[in-house]
Amino acid sequence: MTTGKTRDEIAEAYSSEPWWYDLRGFFILTFAYNSTIGTQMRFFGPNFGPEHLEVACGTGTLLEMVLNWRRRRKLPQVKVTGIDYAPSMLAGAKRRFANNPQVVVQHADAAQLPFADNSFDTANIANSIHCFPTIDGALRDILRVLKPGGTMAANVLLYPTGFAPLRWAAQKINDWGIRKGILYSPFHTEELRAKMLAAGYEIHSEFTSGNTWNVVVRKPV
Ligand SMILES: C[S@@+](CC[C@H](N)C(=O)[O-])C[C@H]1O[C@@H](n2cnc3c(N)ncnc32)[C@H](O)[C@@H]1O
Repeated sequence: MTTGKTRDEIAEAYSSEPWWYDLRGFFILTFAYNSTIGTQMRFFGPNFGPEHLEVACGTGTLLEMVLNWRRRRKLPQVKVTGIDYAPSMLAGAKRRFANNPQVVVQHADAAQLPFADNSFDTANIANSIHCFPTIDGALRDILRVLKPGGTMAANVLLYPTGFAPLRWAAQKINDWGIRKGILYSPFHTEELRAKMLAAGYEIHSEFTSGNTWNVVVRKPV
């Protein structure tokens, strides 16, 4: 069940200090997503083409870790454009990447991207798609700005499963996140798969890990 928050209410819910957001994010990742930073590096790290769009980059903490992960593996340098709708998150990202010419961040709604059609080789939506009030709109607009054959990776928060105490803890965190406005809703895999196919993507690869569905989709050529 969702509370139907608007994009501005969601942005307001994200107006905490970047350090608190990062600390809170670690607990949410561990107990609600039942995932690890390492899993996220290995999933998002490979999906960077020469022109990359990082959708809902937040404070850029994860993006910076992924770029460092790529550097350690000597993967090609890429140009990254990060967008986020919450001004406080974006302020943290702007400070973080102020001296990094590889990354530009700007204010934008994932469902109304200020970019021309066919601009990006790749896009990642890390830990965010289930926070959007307009997932269908975001999926359609990301498809529009991807080049034909371009890929998008996203991890989707699923309704918790597994060992009862962990499931209960994840459920409590999700309920709190929905009340606060930092989570729109968890999903069932099939709901999100149907949305991606309806938006016009092809499924490239997918796996479930903890309480997340990790999917790479492609814009048809
Ligand atoms: C849980 S955070 C994840 C941030 C970052 N990707 C990470 O993994 O640390 C979700 C982000 O989605 C952003 N967001 C929510 N709705 C959005 C929208 N409609 N357009 C762009 N960003 C949005 C929030 O402002 C927040 O920064």
